[in-house]
Amino acid sequence: MIPLIKGVRDIFPPDSELWGHIKKEAENLFRDFGFSEILIPIMEKTELFKRGIGEQTDIVEKEMYTFADRNGESATLRPEATASIARSYISHKMYADDPIRKFYTIGPMFRRERPQKGRYRQFYQIDAEIFGQSSPYADAQLIIMLKTLMDRLKVKDTTLHINSLGCVKCRPAFNDSFKNFLIKISDNLCRNCQTRANTNPLRTLDCKNKSCSDFTKKAPKISDFLCEECKEHFATVCEALKDTNIDFQINNRLVRGLDYYTKTAFEIQTDALGAQNAIAGGGRYDGLVKLLGGPDMPAVGFAIGFDRLAEIIALNNVSYTQKPEIFIAALGKQCIKEAFLWMSALNAVGIKTETEFSEKSLKSLMRRAGKIGALNVIIIGERELEKKEALFRDMNTKKQIEIKLDNPVKNIIEILSKKAV
Ligand code: HAM
Repeated sequence: MIPLIKGVRDIFPPDSELWGHIKKEAENLFRDFGFSEILIPIMEKTELFKRGIGEQTDIVEKEMYTFADRNGESATLRPEATASIARSYISHKMYADDPIRKFYTIGPMFRRERPQKGRYRQFYQIDAEIFGQSSPYADAQLIIMLKTLMDRLKVKDTTLHINSLGCVKCRPAFNDSFKNFLIKISDNLCRNCQTRANTNPLRTLDCKNKSCSDFTKKAPKISDFLCEECKEHFATVCEALKDTNIDFQINNRLVRGLDYYTKTAFEIQTDALGAQNAIAGGGRYDGLVKLLGGPDMPAVGFAIGFDRLAEIIALNNVSYTQKPEIFIAALGKQCIKEAFLWMSALNAVGIKTETEFSEKSLKSLMRRAGKIGALNVIIIGERELEKKEALFRDMNTKKQIEIKLDNPVKNIIEILSKKAV
């Protein structure tokens, strides 16, 4: 057997049934909110992520799957979707026709992190982005959409954390003050944070090391540095969330791990998954489109960690496997042939039907029907076939009726629709 690469995994039934359910709910909801699907490549030029996510982020510094393509160009497996969607928005000049665009995409991302529960090297994201809207109501709309999805999927015990990271006007003063503070407490920081103090100071707020988190508690707060525009923007987002009854916590330690954020940043966190507590994260990134060579265009978005979301929903212990409506227990060669024809016709009209193609005893066929959870069984032997009648058995009530075989598919559909009323 050839083992899997570390940190990647297969998603198969019943988990894949739950994944299908989540995907369908998300797509239906996003479409209702006016989002359209966008499909972006799995690989991009390395430069896109370096510039978009930031050279000094953990993702770019140590987590990307980067390789030299055969022509010598550097390519990278996408670690996230936002930079690619922004690239697509720019390269197709979508802004020229209608700058306001709302996209979603669902698919695999790749980051070479240390694998553990909830953290994989190939993981999946459900991503949504809005381009061309600077209003705080766009931020609020995204958060509402995210929370609505969590409610529909019955995800319990989550907390929405929200912060403002300021903008190009107010962030530099905060960064300076924050850096100076870190220099003063440098001896109390772990080695990693001592390096971060120079390269990516705000990431020290994320450090799980107790000494680091204790000492950075007294760090200057971004909220004290926000310019009037950022303050007002943040206040409007918070007010819109209150007005729509969405609970949230202002968390001024929330910094996010990608460099492109401006103004609003948010995360949905849970205690249910151990160390990997972020189910979703996002925020505004008003500078990214320009940074990637496009016009000055505001944007905001989020990504849900599909794997983590599925792991939390799985705790509810609900089965998403659709049981067969019909199992045809066919005895003997001739009946198997008939069963095959009925099954094909029923499947084609959307009635989940199973049968068994090899000759088996009735006992073993009924065992199989039970094992796959068939709701009804049609029993047909050579004698019944001759009489043009079969038995229709409701596996729940155990009631049996006779079913005419003059037009079996029509008759089966009729019985099922009578049962449904
Ligand atoms: P992110 O916070 O890096 O943001 O990732 C979003 C979510 O993806 C995380 O909250 C987490 O649930 C999931 N995730 C990240 N890494 C892993 C992993 N190794 N294994 C399993 N799940 C993981 C972004 O990616 C931004 N592009 C979000 C965004 C969209 N911001 C604006 N628009």
